[in-house]
Amino acid sequence: MSIMKIFIDTADTDEIRKCHATGLIDGVTTNPSLIMKSGRDPEEVYQEIADIGVRDISMEVVGDADHMISEGIRLHQKFGDCATIKVPCTPDGLLACSALSRKVIPVNVTLIFSAAQAILAAKAGAKYVSPFIGRLDDNSIAGLEVVRSISAVYKEHKVGTKILAASLREVNRVTRAFWNGAKICTMPPKVFHDMYNHILTEKGLEIFDRDWAAVHPKAKVGGDLDALDIGDIYITGLGDNGGVTTPIPGTDISSGYPGLYPEMIQNPDDDTLKINLS
Ligand code: E4P
Repeated sequence: MSIMKIFIDTADTDEIRKCHATGLIDGVTTNPSLIMKSGRDPEEVYQEIADIGVRDISMEVVGDADHMISEGIRLHQKFGDCATIKVPCTPDGLLACSALSRKVIPVNVTLIFSAAQAILAAKAGAKYVSPFIGRLDDNSIAGLEVVRSISAVYKEHKVGTKILAASLREVNRVTRAFWNGAKICTMPPKVFHDMYNHILTEKGLEIFDRDWAAVHPKAKVGGDLDALDIGDIYITGLGDNGGVTTPIPGTDISSGYPGLYPEMIQNPDDDTLKINLS
């Protein structure tokens, strides 16, 4: 089964760490401009991204075909399977793509602006092609249409190369790129975080929280949940006295209730709460 993949387009390792912690990130793309912006040594950045646990990192190489090939081989030897070598869609870049692909080194052909370029990249054995949606849109060419035509050609000819939509600057473009046949979208961290957002989710949550608080006005730990006052907080089943209730005076959890705090477990038999302090 093929599922949409999300890559983060940045060399900022703090941002990558935060995004990766969501469990929804499949890879990272970098380019010389992003590396320059980080102000760091490229390979130090790649190493840190690999240490974070990212399993697919696009590392761009430059120069003539021979240089791109030798650099691609070196980077793949150094970083192993997480290294995808990124080359531009030029005659040299595609020569490098063919040579690296023959050695089973994955290649991402970047700076793709037309279906014709994507056809050449596929013939050169690219694992990914990166059409730049935003930069096409900036030039009054519908970037998503380019994705759609690449997808149609690849489908028609059963091409294994995958479309990695790039230069995506807003959530809507991400959704539409997937709709139009991209298998992967790479995006700046902000766009990824924005994918979670919807005003109706915020509003709905506000209402649910308010209504839930009305159902459970004051949750207490220990004894009858409906009867205790703030300050009468008990903990059960913990510590050496195992099961004996221990008061924790003054602890105020009036804004909380069972279910909201994962560390609190309600005992259905006696209506007490257990707080896991470990
Ligand atoms: C992708 O591989 C590129 O690094 C990136 O998406 C370019 O985006 P930009 O056009 O916003 O610079």
